[in-house]
Amino acid sequence: MRDFMFAELICFEPACRARFAITEVLYSCPKCGGLLEATYSGEWPEPEQLKKLWRERRMDNAPLEQSGVWRYREMFPFLDSNDHVVTLREGNTPLLNAPVAARYAGLARVTFKHHGFNPTGSFKDNGMTCGTAQAVRLGMKRVACVSTGNTSASMAAYASAAGLQPIIFIPHGNISYGKLAQALEYGARTLQVEANFDQILALVRVLAERLGIYLLNSINPFRIEGQKSIVIEMLDQRDWRVPDWIVLPGGNLGNTSAFGKALRELKALGLIEKLPRLAVVQAEGSAPFYDFVRQPAGTGFVPVTHPETLATAIKIGDPVSWPKALLEVSTTDGVVERASEQEIADAKAQIGLAGIGCEPASAATLAGIRKLVAAGVMDKDADVVAVLTGNVLKDPDYIYKYHTGQLKDPHGESILANYGNSPTVVPNDADKIAALLMGD
Ligand code: F0G
Repeated sequence: MRDFMFAELICFEPACRARFAITEVLYSCPKCGGLLEATYSGEWPEPEQLKKLWRERRMDNAPLEQSGVWRYREMFPFLDSNDHVVTLREGNTPLLNAPVAARYAGLARVTFKHHGFNPTGSFKDNGMTCGTAQAVRLGMKRVACVSTGNTSASMAAYASAAGLQPIIFIPHGNISYGKLAQALEYGARTLQVEANFDQILALVRVLAERLGIYLLNSINPFRIEGQKSIVIEMLDQRDWRVPDWIVLPGGNLGNTSAFGKALRELKALGLIEKLPRLAVVQAEGSAPFYDFVRQPAGTGFVPVTHPETLATAIKIGDPVSWPKALLEVSTTDGVVERASEQEIADAKAQIGLAGIGCEPASAATLAGIRKLVAAGVMDKDADVVAVLTGNVLKDPDYIYKYHTGQLKDPHGESILANYGNSPTVVPNDADKIAALLMGD
């Protein structure tokens, strides 16, 4: 974007570090198979100058500046022209205080950065605007992804807005109707595959190469670049006060990779002086990263072959970005926690009672915080920001079942409606309704 900024793709593997042109269509290193990341060289403006520039842009009506992603484009200068940008005014998501949720977790206070406020209702929009811009720049006509629902909803919207054809692959019967409905409405060619997320990702990688379709899963390094803006905007909103902890759910671990990369880069440029600790929370039945960090050093990564959780967004057994996530968790002195189905469901109800609400995967954050506070890992006075990754309306079926005591875990065991709120059927009779409400 700036003449003096030089962007490249670089292999993430320390033993390889091969470099490739930013315009090559690559999803992994052709030399060693490692993950790729975008890297930049050149001279950045001074930190104070950047902070001022980003603040000023908030007052600007130009679409690019109204985007809570592109406003921070100096941190991901991989494009050579802004003409390739497709924005739906993503980002600009609020920081919300939630005393009810803090009390539940045993914290003095907790702040949610709510990415359910994004155009398609999840944090995926932050990355998708960048991935789509790169697809346009490369002259691609079709884009594809496998998804547990949110990536596909987001990709469908951005691709259609850009005039590209979205093709989505989803595990049949394993995504919520809210998310499937979005993909259909945004015009995606939708293929429901009889396989799980991990199996379909392998399939889509083969098809993308064979058919020349641009892959927009988080293995795509430009998605990761965009998701960095979640942390950058969070810190900007906090006037660059670094929290003690940033907590997020972990599925394919793209977001963990993006947050860590953003934090390291912000520190290297002098925008922040210290790193917050990352806490990644997985669902108990889909927790290969949790297991991995507890194994003796030198042990290989063991995927979960049959991942299970009602938090379908994070139902992933073989997360592609684990090597990056591992670096980011260790660099930030972070932790990995896991939460049960009951813990996620109850935490979600508490986030609802705080007047905020989120989808099941996002509630893993509060469930994890509660466990970390109880274990003494997280101080009860700690300054904690949890990222709520998806909107409350993404999965209404789960909500209705929980509140009416009908929710069952993947093994058919009932989830207790500990904070249930069941609707009452009443006759069309003012006296009877008044009598009922008077008893409340
Ligand atoms: N929360 C929500 C709401 C998600 O949709 C996802 C991932 C995650 C958390 C986990 O993020 O993969 O970066 O660790 N959803 C993907 C999808 C996999 O296809 O929509 P991650």
